[in-house]
Formats: sequence, C-alpha cells, structure tokens
Amino acid sequence: MFIVVGVTGGIAAYKTVQLVRILVTGGHDVHVIPTADALKFVGLTTWEAISRNPVTISVHEDVAEVRHVALGRKADLVIVAPATANTLAAMTAGLADDLLGTTLLATSAPVVVAPAMHTEMWRHPATTANVETLRSRGVHIVGPADGPLTGGDSGPGRMSEPEQIAAFALSVVSADGDLADLRVAVSTGGTREPIDPVRFIGNRSSGRQGAAIAVAAADRGAHVRLVAAHVDEGALAEASVHPRIAIIRVGTAGELGSAMREAAVGADAVVMVAAVADYRVAEVADRKLSKEDGPLQTLALVPNDDILAGLVSERAARQTVVGFAAETPDDEADLLERGRRKRRRKGVDLLAVNEVGWNAGFESSDNRVIVLGADDEVVAEASGTKRAVADAVWDAVAKLRGR
Ligand code: CTP
Repeated sequence: MFIVVGVTGGIAAYKTVQLVRILVTGGHDVHVIPTADALKFVGLTTWEAISRNPVTISVHEDVAEVRHVALGRKADLVIVAPATANTLAAMTAGLADDLLGTTLLATSAPVVVAPAMHTEMWRHPATTANVETLRSRGVHIVGPADGPLTGGDSGPGRMSEPEQIAAFALSVVSADGDLADLRVAVSTGGTREPIDPVRFIGNRSSGRQGAAIAVAAADRGAHVRLVAAHVDEGALAEASVHPRIAIIRVGTAGELGSAMREAAVGADAVVMVAAVADYRVAEVADRKLSKEDGPLQTLALVPNDDILAGLVSERAARQTVVGFAAETPDDEADLLERGRRKRRRKGVDLLAVNEVGWNAGFESSDNRVIVLGADDEVVAEASGTKRAVADAVWDAVAKLRGR
C-alpha cells in the first residue's frame, strides 16, 4: 500500500518514527511529509532513513510532477501523527500553506488522524468543533489516550501508541467480510423540532437499532456514514470508536434530510432507521413561551419532507434503499398489511417493519422485525438483540446485491 504519513510539530513525533517503522516492516511504501515545525523534533535524515524514501517538505521541489497532487493521488491511506491542535484547525479550514496541507486537500484516500496536545487544548471548544467537523467529512480520529503528558501533568491528550495507530489505520482501508468496501449511509435516533429555545417535539427513539445497523455493516467490511439525531446516552459508544464509521450529528428533520442526501452521494446502500418528525412547528418562538403571554391555545404545525421518499426518487442506479417502519398494529396480519402499504408508498427495496409500543421496540435492547422485499414478500424475519436484527437486514441487502 502507498501510505503518506504527515508529521506535525509535537513532541509525540518521536513515537511516529516507530509508526513508520511498523508500516515499512509490514511491506508498505511509506512517504513521510513533516511540517517545518515537526523537523524541530525529529530531523529529515531520520525520516528518510526510517521510511527508505526521499522526504521533502516544500511544494517548490519536484515542481514538474506537482508533488503534492502526485502524493495525494497515489496515496491509498494518509495518516497524520501527531496532529497538533493547530493542525486540526488548519485541516478544518482547508489551509494549504505547506506540502502536507496541499496533499491533504488533493487526496481522496481515507485520512486517519492521531491528535496529541495538552488536555486543555484538546478540551477547548474550538478543538472539539474542529474534530466534529473533520469527523463529519469522514476523517477518522484515533485517540488521544489518557495518561501522562510532557509537562508532568496527566489527562487526555497523549498520542495513541504507534502499534494502535497502525492497526486502526490499516483496518480503515483493508477490510474483509461480505460487505467489504460497500459504502453505506445510515440514519439513527429521533429528530427534535423546536417549539421555542427550550422546548421541542421529539420521540422515544433511542438510536440503538440504527447504531447496531451501522456497527454490523462496518464489522462486515463496509464504510459507514452514520447520521445521528438525538440518541440515548451510550447508544453511539461502539460506533464512535469504529475505524470505518464516521458520525454526523444532527438535530431537526431538516438537518437530517440534508445530511442524509449528502451521505447518500456515492453510497451503495442507504438505510433510514431514524424516527423522523412528520411535522415541525410553523413558527418557532425566539423567546421562551410564557404563561404571562396568555394561555397557549394551539401549536400550528407544517409537514416535513419525507426524506426516505426523496432519497428513493434521487437515487443512483444500483443503490439499495432500505426503510424502517414503526407500527402499532392490531395483530400480525395488520402489521404485514400496514408494512406492505408503506413499502409501496415509499418505493424502497426493503422495508424492515417492527411493532412498537410502550413496552416494545424503542428503548429496549431487543427488537423484532419482518423485512419486506420489492414483491411484498417477507424476505427475512429476525428477533433478538438489535445486532441480530441488524445482521438479518444486512443479509437481505447482501442477497439483493448478489454478494
Ligand atoms: N421517514 C422519513 N422522513 C419522514 C418520516 C419518515 O424519511 N418525514 C422514514 C423513516 O426514517 C423510516 C420510514 O420513513 O425509514 C418509515 O417511517 P414511519 O415513521 O414508520 O412512517 P411515516 O412515513 O412517518 O408514516 P406514518 O406516519 O403514516 O406511519
């Protein structure tokens, strides 16, 4: 594999020497791009010797071959380790003032970033926002770890260990499993439609089924974009550390729709698990509604777009679209009938129908679904953990796509 390792100006750069050695020993063709600041910690000679390739830091060398574009294009994987707070900010802004910055803009390879900085800098809202933005663009973040820092203090901010970064980065690109290299967009959680600055219209979705769908796909080799509306505490724990899942957080149905349309571009499969509000408040109050304003009589609502139907109508050839339906039926026959009507209305390839109620579906860890196919036949049935249900849905998708 052609791997570019960007090194930026932090003391953890000495650990990146070991990272490069691990990658080279693994048979990879490694090209190091240090920033000018990085060279204050570890010199050019070391990088050349350890990577067994020439190292340059300037965009003005090898001008004829346009080095940054060449490296960016050839790369199968780009790792930035250590990534300082400044580097994260520069990446977020898309700055291209050195060879590493230009390479990062020119590449379409997966990018893995290993941050390293003092705890205060890592926790600063600016850094948090930058990390969130990078994640939403599909950048994979590994670490930082919690432990002793250079100044004698301790806390989150230590760069992850080289072995860990190497294992994580390689698993981002080389996946096995029956869904290997499938690109997938999944939505999860419940949307929240604001009424005023403190109140909203929401629902009881915990986000666990959608998170399980994302983790199952990624475990089976897919690259996943998970668009998450409001979810219960801990629902995204596994997804947020998975090397092949990028999480994009949203609030309202409108935001979820835009994020899903974006995530669906180039995706092989799109799965809408989110519980989307069908209506939003016509006029959101910009101040908290108060009883002093007089008794509130009615709340005027306007319909939201049907995101799933929109995704179906805009879909690219060979894209598989899956919906989830939450129903409160009279009995099993009614559940199937409602499911079939909904599948036809939405035009999806597969619809996973599940019964919900105060005691089933939403907040529990188990679920039961019936998956309907394009001819309205039941193509799969699953009950048990949300992961078991997720695997059954992916089995149906894999079968449909001839995998
Ligand atoms: N959905 C959507 N956009 C909406 C509402 C629902 O994309 N505005 C999607 C959900 O994510 C789910 C599927 O449509 O995949 C079915 O959702 P459900 O709430 O069961 O159905 P509705 O379309 O809301 O129909 P109804 O309210 O009549 O049951």
